[in-house]
Amino acid sequence: MISSIGDAVVNGFAHRLPSDPRRTLLDWLREDLGLTGTKKGCDHGQCGACTVLVEGRRINSCLSLAQLHEGESIETIEAVGASDDLSPLQRAFVAHDGFQCGYCTPGQICSAKALMQELADGWASAVTPDIAQKPLPTREELAERMSGNLCRCGAYANIIAAIEDVIGQQSATQEAST
Ligand code: FES
Repeated sequence: MISSIGDAVVNGFAHRLPSDPRRTLLDWLREDLGLTGTKKGCDHGQCGACTVLVEGRRINSCLSLAQLHEGESIETIEAVGASDDLSPLQRAFVAHDGFQCGYCTPGQICSAKALMQELADGWASAVTPDIAQKPLPTREELAERMSGNLCRCGAYANIIAAIEDVIGQQSATQEAST
């Protein structure tokens, strides 16, 4: 049987998807495209180190087959910022010591980026006190929203502080412009 394999757009560039239907999105990104910023931790959907954005939403790339993403837009940590042009989240992780070994950090930052979009879109979390109100999320809520990303070094408090900082900065900027 002849099957045509389409493309996915990764960090703005079209790439032909792998011919092996068993290839995970994570292995395709890391081993075929060389985008090793996305990490393989557990390879079982438990740690979040492999988090990438698909159509702007965060997923565990180790749990998804690459061929399922034909025609979709995928963003990895390589597109979030560069060493000489860090994103606000990356700068905040540095400022707040949001890592020690750094292995989980790409996944943490991709997850935090998606979290901020989820907040903007009004998505509730399990601990959102009132979905009709839109106050800045508490630390408890941020921790719940980041609970899919594990950090074996235990930098959780600093990770939450970094995300809280960026959300606060964005909120202040929005208030100043209204
Ligand atoms: Fe995908 Fe751990 S490597 S969740």
